[in-house]
Amino acid sequence: MTKYLEILDDKPELIKRALRIVMGRIEEAIARRGVCTIALAGGSTPKPLYEKLAEQSLPWAQLNIFWGDERYVPADHPDSNQRMARLAWLDQVPIPEGNIHPMPTAAADPQQDAAAYDATLRNFFGDRPWPSFDIVLLGMGDDGHTASLFPQTAALTVGDRLITVGEKQGEPRLTFTVPLINAAQNILFLVAGENKQEALQKIFHSDADGFAYPSKLINPDHGVLWWLLDAAAGDRLAPDQAIYQTKSRPEP
Ligand code: 6PG
Repeated sequence: MTKYLEILDDKPELIKRALRIVMGRIEEAIARRGVCTIALAGGSTPKPLYEKLAEQSLPWAQLNIFWGDERYVPADHPDSNQRMARLAWLDQVPIPEGNIHPMPTAAADPQQDAAAYDATLRNFFGDRPWPSFDIVLLGMGDDGHTASLFPQTAALTVGDRLITVGEKQGEPRLTFTVPLINAAQNILFLVAGENKQEALQKIFHSDADGFAYPSKLINPDHGVLWWLLDAAAGDRLAPDQAIYQTKSRPEP
């Protein structure tokens, strides 16, 4: 596993950096296998990245888009991660609808929809224990949660399936399990804002466990992990922690 921690001057710089890394990984995956699989994050931080991706010229027919987690709301609901990514990116580009694989939320039974998406992934990736996404995008909440893997919840211990039901204050969510995320080739955390400092301190500087700070459970089996932070988020991290600061980082 290779791990990069980068602190960028501000959120626009973070998004520019994320765009360069994502574009590079897409190119690599398509050169290697002719297709690229990307799992999207929800929340507010990745939205400007999706807007930037909509401005790129990419081999859209060779991209397959999935979601790492979803709020259990209809696809046209303002809180829907699918809706956010479609408005910011996917509806703006000629990507075939068949290449877009949203998490289902219409069964009125989160367990049933989780099982359905699990089957969708197994059909797409074929029969292998843990499908390996080319890119998994993640955010982090100020409580240290990622995807819909919240502190002290049962979803954190699920190791026998790809998709499980997460829970935020009693509200169900669909989410990738920890082993599925860790099977990815490239995992990118995009974390911005002062309110994230406390959790980052715990994740990078304490022996707090992953049950308390689920983002700590994200360590790819073989892939590359990028923590991209803006200065507001990374301010309290010891300088030596940051493998690279914006100014000195060579291009991958
Ligand atoms: C979601 C996300 C969640 C998000 C964090 C950070 O559906 O909400 O997948 O894990 O990434 O809550 O959210 P912000 O980017 O808005 O801070």
